[in-house]
Amino acid sequence: MGGGAQETPVADDYKNPALPLEERVESLLSQMTLEEKALQLSQGVLGQDYNVNNLVGGKAQDDPRIGSMICALEDPEKRNAYQKFIVEKSRLGIPMIFGYDVIHGYKTIFPVPLAQACSWNPELVRESCVVAAKESKASGIDWTFSPMIDIGRDPRWGRVVEGYGEDPYATGVFAAAAVKGYQGETIPYRIAACLKHFVGYGVSEGGRDYSYTDISRQALWETYLPPYEAGVQAGARTLMGAFNDICGVPASANPYTLKEVLRNKWGFTGFVVSDWSSVRQLMNQGYAANADDCVKKALEAGLDMEMVDGFYRRSIPSLVKSGDLDPKFVDDAVRNVLRVKFELGLFEHPYVEVKPAAERLLLPGYKALARQMAVESMVLLKNKDNLLPLSPDLKNIALVGPLAKDKDSLIGSWRGRGEARNVTDIEEGLRKVLPSSVNLHYAKGCGVNEGSDEELQEAVQAAEQSEVILLCLGETSTMNGENASRSTISLTSPQQKLFARLVELKKPIVLLLATGRPISLHTIEPRVSSILVTWHPGTEAGPAVADLLTGRENPSGRLAITFPRTEGQIPVYYNMRNRARPYQGKYQDISTEPMYWFGDGISYTTFEYGPLGLSARELTSSTPLTVNIDIKNTGSRAGKETVFLYIHDKVASVSQPMKRLIAFQKVELQAGESKTVSFTVDPARDLSFANSDGRRVLEPGEFEIIVKDKKETINLK
Ligand code: BGC
Repeated sequence: MGGGAQETPVADDYKNPALPLEERVESLLSQMTLEEKALQLSQGVLGQDYNVNNLVGGKAQDDPRIGSMICALEDPEKRNAYQKFIVEKSRLGIPMIFGYDVIHGYKTIFPVPLAQACSWNPELVRESCVVAAKESKASGIDWTFSPMIDIGRDPRWGRVVEGYGEDPYATGVFAAAAVKGYQGETIPYRIAACLKHFVGYGVSEGGRDYSYTDISRQALWETYLPPYEAGVQAGARTLMGAFNDICGVPASANPYTLKEVLRNKWGFTGFVVSDWSSVRQLMNQGYAANADDCVKKALEAGLDMEMVDGFYRRSIPSLVKSGDLDPKFVDDAVRNVLRVKFELGLFEHPYVEVKPAAERLLLPGYKALARQMAVESMVLLKNKDNLLPLSPDLKNIALVGPLAKDKDSLIGSWRGRGEARNVTDIEEGLRKVLPSSVNLHYAKGCGVNEGSDEELQEAVQAAEQSEVILLCLGETSTMNGENASRSTISLTSPQQKLFARLVELKKPIVLLLATGRPISLHTIEPRVSSILVTWHPGTEAGPAVADLLTGRENPSGRLAITFPRTEGQIPVYYNMRNRARPYQGKYQDISTEPMYWFGDGISYTTFEYGPLGLSARELTSSTPLTVNIDIKNTGSRAGKETVFLYIHDKVASVSQPMKRLIAFQKVELQAGESKTVSFTVDPARDLSFANSDGRRVLEPGEFEIIVKDKKETINLK
């Protein structure tokens, strides 16, 4: 207990902000006892944690020497009082770093991250993270466990909702945007970002959460590490070790990823926190025999801070004293933690300014940004006969389905401190903008997981009176996220029953798909006129959906993850390698093509792509290539188009994907307007590939440059 009673005088030069950071770190470290160090590497929980999967509570609150807390308090005054206890009751007064899962907003909730990626607007992602940082810091949070940048190629895995989709390059771009958003502002608005879960967690076998992953070094370097490298380069100050066992060496005790790659190759100087209980879980994974063994293996591998279990604080002192643990591992980890605390200004500013909630949360500007992000993240996949935007001549519209008014689901999983009561649902959003001459007939139709004949009948009645049916189906917020794997990605039975009944009425149906993962649509798609994937859009769900349905805004989202026809196609993603027999090996029972590809999405206008203009056809490794392409808005309304630039390395010593995204740009065009979109291809950066040692290899030969359906070949000498 305590630590305040010790007599040793403290040289408090580390408190002097004028001294160089590393000097402050060393001065403080040199005065710390072994117990103080072990506690500095430990994290507990303060308040009620909202993550229902986290079963074991930390009991470290009573020791002022503890290094970090997951802070589920929401009240800056209580947080400050606790910080005061830490700073004043411990001998060295090392401030606490309060962490929390601020995944897509703190109180103003933005669309789920997978949706945000579909906006293809990294600047909006950055701005959303600035807002999340401001609300968090003002509520007492110094550190978010975000962005989650695990590549999502298996929609059975519930956590695809938290990431930025299936592509390593795009995920890296959004990772960097998020890091800059969280960390980019000045004190007191800056919080530390945390790249998670390092690394390969999304490869969990069969889409089952927390499972084993078999990831070759080639796949690590090609697919799973690049987003982390981008995040580290953008300045992320922390990472979280993952739960998964990578080919027999769990990610939370993996010296290759945590030391060799992260520290030695990338020069990372921040700290790595474990995932919840992942140090203890080394025993479940058959990698450590007991608590001491867990601690030794994790710490020696480079896992600096332990989340919740208290194994570090209990085992480190005795392991060092018995000579079983070299104290240098402890010191290195403590340095990493202290460095980040100094950088965040916690020693100078341990307390946050206390303002009333109305002045720090849900501000109008924050909500406007959430609405814009929601608008840009929704993806229109089908729009037969231009049914959308809804005609102003409509008199009766049916709004049916369990998700239309389910605020708790529209806000999405992992909603920080977001509350359903602050969400504007789809019915409310539509009623605000539809003219009084329109009758909106609402009926729930069924629940997501249960239904009754009465509910079904009400839906039929609403639909029968209407010219068009807006049908809101999908997932509840608890059907995706952590520990929410599914063996099927179809709509639930009650929703399928409702759908089948409404189809019988032969009225045009607009499917509004509120989901956190791709849903199997192959039996649904032929029977609806329009499909708008709304995802789980957050606080401003209703206004954003209404903006798009009424045509006040034009859809501009494009999928960041492929939609398989059925789960039997998994894995299916755009940058696969070619088959030995491209003309054979197809499924006998369904098309081999997915339902919708990565990048798919349409709008209320049309875009025409001109030919690719290349600055050269013959290149050397040091000549950058310019790719120009004219895009014309050939429709009658303004719209935004995302232009994707892919390459294909035709022959390489490590065979390459059929196409690989190397750049994208989102452009806005007025009706009839043309713009030239220009990309610079740097051969060393963009035409090289990673080998299994993580080296970039650039080989001469032919490359295809691909934009939409245009393709040109260049030759690298
Ligand atoms: C999750 C992490 C999260 C942590 C703290 C874990 O179960 O995997 O993503 O940051 O809990 O809530």
